Amino acid sequence: MAPPVLRVSGLTKVFGTREQEALRLAGEGLGRDEIHRRTGSTLAVHDVSFTVERGELFVVMGLSGSGKSTLVRLLNRLIEPSAGTVEVEGRDLRALDDAALRTVRNEKISMVFQHFALLPHRTVRENAAYALKVRGAGAAEQRERADWALETVGLLERADARPDELSGGMRQRVGLARALAADSEVLLMDEPFSALDPLIRRDMQDLLERLQAELTKTIVFITHDLNEAMRLGDRILMLKDGRTVQLGTGPEIISAPADDYVADFTSDVDRTRVLTAGDLLREPRMTARLGDGCGDVLRALGAAEANGVHVLDGDGRIAGVARDDLLARALQEGRTAIGPRELVADHATIAADRPVVEFVHLVGRHVVPLGVVDTEGRLLGVVPRAAVLDALSAVPVRGRRP
Ligand SMILES: Nc1ncnc2c1ncn2[C@@H]1O[C@H](COP(=O)(O)OP(=O)(O)O)[C@@H](O)[C@H]1O
Ligand SMILES: [Mg+2]
Repeated sequence: MAPPVLRVSGLTKVFGTREQEALRLAGEGLGRDEIHRRTGSTLAVHDVSFTVERGELFVVMGLSGSGKSTLVRLLNRLIEPSAGTVEVEGRDLRALDDAALRTVRNEKISMVFQHFALLPHRTVRENAAYALKVRGAGAAEQRERADWALETVGLLERADARPDELSGGMRQRVGLARALAADSEVLLMDEPFSALDPLIRRDMQDLLERLQAELTKTIVFITHDLNEAMRLGDRILMLKDGRTVQLGTGPEIISAPADDYVADFTSDVDRTRVLTAGDLLREPRMTARLGDGCGDVLRALGAAEANGVHVLDGDGRIAGVARDDLLARALQEGRTAIGPRELVADHATIAADRPVVEFVHLVGRHVVPLGVVDTEGRLLGVVPRAAVLDALSAVPVRGRRP
């Protein structure tokens, strides 16, 4: 199997002169403040490990000062780690000489900064082509890749403009175009949208989601905003004082915050937009098949204290719902096996990836719980009303945010 695009192990960075002593104290479990008090050095990042798979949008989230920028700079060795390793496609960055490292930065991992340096006297197109020019690409290739990237971010008409003729949001898109034109494996984005006003920020998030889906880019995205993290991240690494407090998908973090610190953050998140039908999915308590005996199913319903059951066809698709009253009538009328006449359409279905906000009105409306189906209509599981209530009411203990 191919190695992950990025593998980070035990990554640690101390700023200051008493590095070894700070590392020793960190190893003993002392926190950043205490270490700073004793050594004057800052433990910016401590013992962070994770892998990022190809095509993943990996978010690093934490408050200001939590070590995000330090971490992202360690990822392409803009700064040297005090301990730990970074591997890009299985290659340890420490093993690279300067030339090889430059190549990795140009071709494998490129950085989109919050205030990335657009060249003020160059056109938008030249700015977009910048990484290619550095790489020594020919003029034709530069132009072709830059124009493709500008078109992708919706800025091709402004290719001949200068950066100062553009709005902040447009300049940010030029930065994104530059990273896309470079066509590197991994994009490192350090709070790229933080300085944008909310509407433009929303647009940029949409654009990034679209690009990531279309181009299957591997992205490491830094933010201090948990809603942004939840919106964009396949997985989220939560940092606090340089250490990992939790690593998981948005729904995992929301449903099981690792500690009060994370719980406090997640209490602000709109859970109905983060949790999906798939997250709330339960095994159905019972299902029936076409052809099952009406009497058997009726007895099973009685035992389960249910009034209806999903009836599946031979492929596991929902054929309909058998209700207890109709099964009883079928028996009275001498029909012993469940057939089309015993079925009613008293149910609703939803796809596993849909957020709660889109199906909450369908829950508890029918004799059977909401069915979660795949694209073929096969029943994957159900979302009973209790599952929705649990998920939405599981508001973690609120502490005061530090
Ligand atoms: N070059 C540096 N020298 C000394 N301390 C630094 C340096 N860069 C960052 N720090 C410190 O490391 C900690 C983490 O900073 P940073 O990585 O910038 O956090 P974030 O990006 O999450 O705001 C902070 O305490 C910060 O003051
Ligand atoms: Mg930062």
